[in-house]
Amino acid sequence: MSLRILELFSGLGGWRYALQGMGEVIAAYDISPTANATYMLNHGDRPIARELASIAPATMAAHQADLWAMSPPCQPFCRMGNRHGLEDRRSKAFLNLIDILPLAPPQHLIMENVSGFLGSNAHELIEGTLKKLGFHTHTCELCPTQFGIPNQRPRLYLLASQRPLKTAIAPQIPPVSIAIYLDSEEDPSLYLDPQVLAKHKPGLDLVRPDEHRTACFIGGYGQRFVGSGSFLKTDHGIRRFSTAEVARFMGLPPTFRFPEEISIEQRYKLLGNGLNIPVASWVARQLSV
Ligand SMILES: C[S@@+](CC[C@H](N)C(=O)[O-])C[C@H]1O[C@@H](n2cnc3c(N)ncnc32)[C@H](O)[C@@H]1O
Repeated sequence: MSLRILELFSGLGGWRYALQGMGEVIAAYDISPTANATYMLNHGDRPIARELASIAPATMAAHQADLWAMSPPCQPFCRMGNRHGLEDRRSKAFLNLIDILPLAPPQHLIMENVSGFLGSNAHELIEGTLKKLGFHTHTCELCPTQFGIPNQRPRLYLLASQRPLKTAIAPQIPPVSIAIYLDSEEDPSLYLDPQVLAKHKPGLDLVRPDEHRTACFIGGYGQRFVGSGSFLKTDHGIRRFSTAEVARFMGLPPTFRFPEEISIEQRYKLLGNGLNIPVASWVARQLSV
């Protein structure tokens, strides 16, 4: 298996981890300097900091990619967002890529987005375009909790290929205990101070180490309290999960690091935008390559 992979909206490089063993990432694209610095540190290649809303068809065609792997911005489809879909300015890059698709079609395409993408006008557009081009497509919603991981992160995966797909039945493995994912040494600075607790405690999603579920960690986890992810209740108080713990829930490898200059808030943001690696990897293996 040696696919030429184009990683679009590459973030910290989740697809690159998930597609390991299936080929080579020949180029990655992202406009975020923090994402690109993190990608560079972990993968040794710097993504192209280019606006995908205006990338030319010829540039995409020149890559001669076999597989487009992408996670377009999810805000236009988020439960808590405006749900403006294709009318949202953040969908411009997605729209441009769909325009390019018939001019430089890869053999395969794999996309991840939030569950709200299902049935949106963007979903209709990509499915319709792929079908017209003769692709086989498969859409599924999967959550890391089905893979034994104690973290809710339901996401939609769209798989498309010019070859028939091997659509396997998704796993149903009971999640293990949260304790397995915790740092061996706690960072005291993660504990919430009394003023914060007085204000937000009633709305916090609290879990104990022996429980088997945490809520989805979103980009705002470093700054927001309610609806941004779970908080851990220990014998010493209530604390945030560390960025290393969130990275473990996401299935990032133990070698994964952030550049020193990247703030804690930016780290949570990059993780909150990211991909659950074991789930994405399982989806990618449905391609007949
Ligand atoms: C949902 S995140 C992708 C996360 C990625 N799959 C990962 O594993 O980290 C979307 C990424 O798209 C980038 N992005 C958003 N709009 C873009 C555009 N118009 N052109 C290029 N990159 C863009 C953002 O900087 C962000 O890193």
